[in-house]
Amino acid sequence: MNVLITGGTRGLGKELVYKYAKEGYNVIFNYVNSSDRALEIEKDVKDKFGVKCTSYKCDISNEEDVLKMFDEVKKEFNSIDVLVNNAAISCDNELSKKSVSEFKKVIDVNLVGTFIISKYFSQIMNKGSIINIVSNDGIDTCYKEEMDYAASKAGVISLTKTFAKELAPNIRVNAVAPGWMDTDMSKKDIDESELELEKEIILLKRFAKLEEVANVVFFLSSDKASYINGETIKVDGGY
Ligand SMILES: NC(=O)c1ccc[n+]([C@@H]2O[C@H](COP(=O)([O-])OP(=O)(O)OC[C@H]3O[C@@H](n4cnc5c(N)ncnc54)[C@H](OP(=O)(O)O)[C@@H]3O)[C@@H](O)[C@H]2O)c1
Repeated sequence: MNVLITGGTRGLGKELVYKYAKEGYNVIFNYVNSSDRALEIEKDVKDKFGVKCTSYKCDISNEEDVLKMFDEVKKEFNSIDVLVNNAAISCDNELSKKSVSEFKKVIDVNLVGTFIISKYFSQIMNKGSIINIVSNDGIDTCYKEEMDYAASKAGVISLTKTFAKELAPNIRVNAVAPGWMDTDMSKKDIDESELELEKEIILLKRFAKLEEVANVVFFLSSDKASYINGETIKVDGGY
């Protein structure tokens, strides 16, 4: 079984690389900047789990990059069984200060990138499952500074439903909507004291462990979720 995870060098994507490798999958992942880290992960995964693991420097919002990765993956792996659209960016800024280019960049990576990757890689999935990582922000629009991010994730929730229709009955498509997780993304635009205030809002009074989110992603891609399709499942501790 082969899985492609976008954005596998850090945070949830890296957790998913290890989760699927531990479960015996050959793992393909990509990244945009972290070349050294990607090579370390590749080697570590092969050594620890004895599966194939290949990484690609590929910006998901660049169709040429994606086509190049697609051709190489097709040659090396032939087909994939699971696709996890995980890579995303955020860029917090209030309405009057947010530039059009910032807004477009977030939409380009998170929404258009998910579309480009799915357009090509669904063509080498005979059966299986696509999981889109969205956010509770795309459902509840929690933070006004993340208007582009929330809009992109709401867009991906919509894509989840249309892809489910398009790719049925052989490929199921679902989304997982995490709340706060302790990753680079969550520390980027917010300071420590604000993060502590956020924890108070969460019913479980803590951020998700990455494995708690990865477990739900893995469940949705497994046969145990064989009748779940077109759904978005929040994993936010009750925000
Ligand atoms: N963190 C949270 O609290 C939180 C909450 C809700 C939802 N989420 C969602 O969960 C997912 C993972 O988030 P995270 O916090 O783990 O993110 P992260 O730590 O910032 O890691 C992002 C990953 O995506 C890659 N990436 C970024 N832009 C890319 C591009 N244009 N093309 C290819 N790869 C790209 C990065 O590669 P490089 O290392 O090369 O930069 C990195 O591997 C995202 O979809 C995010 O929206 C996160």
